[in-house]
Amino acid sequence: MKSINYNEKTKVFTLRTKNSMYQMQVVEYETLVHLYYGADIGDTEASHRIVCLDRGFSGNPYEAGADRTFSLDVLPQEYSGYGNGDYRINGIEVGHEDGSDAVHLRYESYRTSKGKYSLEGLPCMFGTEDEAETLDITLYDRITDLKVHLLYGVFYDLDVITRAVRLENKGEDTVTIQRAMSMEMDYTNKHMDLIHFYGRHTMERLTERLPLHHGVQSVESKRGMSSHQHNPFVILCDKMTSEKHGDCFGFALAYSGNYRCEIEVDQMEQTRLVMGIHPYHFSFRLNTGDVFETPEVIMAYSDCGLGKLSRIYHDAYRSNLIRSKYVTSPRPILVNNWEATYFDFDEEKLFNIAKAAKDIGLDMFVLDDGWFGKRNTDDSGLGDWVVNEEKIKGGLPKLVKKINAIGMKFGIWIEPEMVSEDSGLYREHPDWVLKIPQRSLMRSRHQLNLDITRKEVRDHVMKQIFRVLDSCKVDYVKWDMNRSVGNVYSAALPSERQGEVYHRYVLGVYEMMEQLVSRYPDLLFENCCGGGGRFDAGMLYYSPQIWCSDNTDAIDRLKIQYGTSFGYPISTMGAHVSVCPNHQTGRTTPFETRAVVASAGTFGYELDLEHLSSEEKEMARKQISEYKEMEHLVQTGDYYRLSDPYRNHDYVVWQFVSKDKKETVVNGVQLRNEANPHIHLIYLEGLEPEAHYEDEKTGYVYTGAALMKAGIPLPVGVGDYQPIQFKFRMS
Ligand code: GLA
Repeated sequence: MKSINYNEKTKVFTLRTKNSMYQMQVVEYETLVHLYYGADIGDTEASHRIVCLDRGFSGNPYEAGADRTFSLDVLPQEYSGYGNGDYRINGIEVGHEDGSDAVHLRYESYRTSKGKYSLEGLPCMFGTEDEAETLDITLYDRITDLKVHLLYGVFYDLDVITRAVRLENKGEDTVTIQRAMSMEMDYTNKHMDLIHFYGRHTMERLTERLPLHHGVQSVESKRGMSSHQHNPFVILCDKMTSEKHGDCFGFALAYSGNYRCEIEVDQMEQTRLVMGIHPYHFSFRLNTGDVFETPEVIMAYSDCGLGKLSRIYHDAYRSNLIRSKYVTSPRPILVNNWEATYFDFDEEKLFNIAKAAKDIGLDMFVLDDGWFGKRNTDDSGLGDWVVNEEKIKGGLPKLVKKINAIGMKFGIWIEPEMVSEDSGLYREHPDWVLKIPQRSLMRSRHQLNLDITRKEVRDHVMKQIFRVLDSCKVDYVKWDMNRSVGNVYSAALPSERQGEVYHRYVLGVYEMMEQLVSRYPDLLFENCCGGGGRFDAGMLYYSPQIWCSDNTDAIDRLKIQYGTSFGYPISTMGAHVSVCPNHQTGRTTPFETRAVVASAGTFGYELDLEHLSSEEKEMARKQISEYKEMEHLVQTGDYYRLSDPYRNHDYVVWQFVSKDKKETVVNGVQLRNEANPHIHLIYLEGLEPEAHYEDEKTGYVYTGAALMKAGIPLPVGVGDYQPIQFKFRMS
């Protein structure tokens, strides 16, 4: 495999994956221009796409002399510096000691190596010498000797190219990075739509598709976390692109803090996208010899529509981002006590839920918030990671032993980044929180962010947590984060480094998580941030699953999980069957429907199982065995969105197909029933057209082509919110 090629004569770099190609070229004045990203165009070098004309009010570099046609303002570039006559959004901006802030990047050299580069303290895709190649292009600024390494990880088989930037201060003076985006992508005259995933707490990753407009548009978070409000994954696509057809490009930032994706359509109808750490409240000082690495952007291209793009991300994350040993192995199916008890429990109540869980065939009991310190409500106890023996008499080891003795695994909830004012930790170390001098504290859910930019704070918290995890057999940890980062100021940093706090906070989180997963390699680790407030590729490097949303309503979940599926594998979405009327919406849906929706994720329960009727218990047993039968499809199969919940208000349907195409499951929900109903046909995907498939329920045999082209009718339901379930096996 040779996926990176440099033509010495033409100075064109060509990166190639199975179905995509990426080209750039060194042109006049050591300028690195971007030529092309898209479908494979064979051995053509796309230099012909660069047409230079004299453009009014677009400056020319001094060395261009009388040539008024060479202007950085209109050239597609690979990574542009600020202050050189490129008036568009730029990749990098740095402050110098003399107060100036220009940086003019010129091509210096390149290196290739086998395997994938890594980033210090940051999550990123990994790849062996057989899986990936790295290209490291060095640009430099003549005046300050700042080196800018553009890093490209090329995964040929996965159809993925990753990007990141490493800055190295080789000069004598300190430079202050004010903006260092992870990548820049220029498109020549392409009229595209932006698809992004916005929302709020309990309604995350809703889908919006908008035409790009002239000027700058952005998707971003300034909350210190990737956020419920905007997910750090965007798609640019052609106007006609649909699920099955058309060009589209994905950009996923593997980072869990403040970020910004800016897209500018310029005066020449060119589109530039930059993505990386948000420049808001960001600066990072580099002394001589210091290095700074940006987070990684994972890019993918599909010429067969959005469905294929999603499947590229699903495969890439499962094989080369998520490190957990559980990524493709069966995960224990759990019951979580949060919606069953909230803070109100004792050891007997917990054990009874665990017993009821065992009775219906579940594998693990998860003890959520409220087990530690003086945590009877959400205004106290965070930071005191010591069991509350008033609630759990005899402590955790005793309870866990009892739970293990009935054949159940045990998992626990923690929230290490936070502290309550009413806690031993805060009373002892009030200076360990983020706090702006002289200003009063901004609370959220009554809690404060610990200053985890400080090593002593991180170590103190993790030591306490490790003590708990070492005291009994813990098979699973849910790591929560229940407020945005606020009061952004660290008492441990000098004033000129306060712009580093947000980023250092994220590095602190990653370091703590790294400690956890390396100390307990067998632990099943789930991330959470008030549900899906930190649902990003960065977190998936540490945990194979993330609690998708605090909203467990099956009908709301249809849109939440639909949106999440564009950028993230289905097996990463924590999804539980909860009680009705639902605690977030008050809606009542059939028990089977709740299970069908939760089966499109890491399945579990979150309700008081003691109160299930015997009929419901029987149904739950069936749901669990059905999930176990299809779990391998969720974890390793291909996923197809067969309907769009924003356009189709009658039903939502999705499909899993095994990689060998021998099995397929079609699940969904019929949203509303109508009198004298229409017959809705659904069309399957991804099957072998000539093979025969048997419907497990009816025994009917169809060709793959029939299922895909002639379709199958949805059942005519009775009542709203009815489940849809089909299973076909190659016969
Ligand atoms: C967050 C989580 C919930 C639950 C509560 C506990 O909101 O998303 O699942 O753990 O915290 O406080």
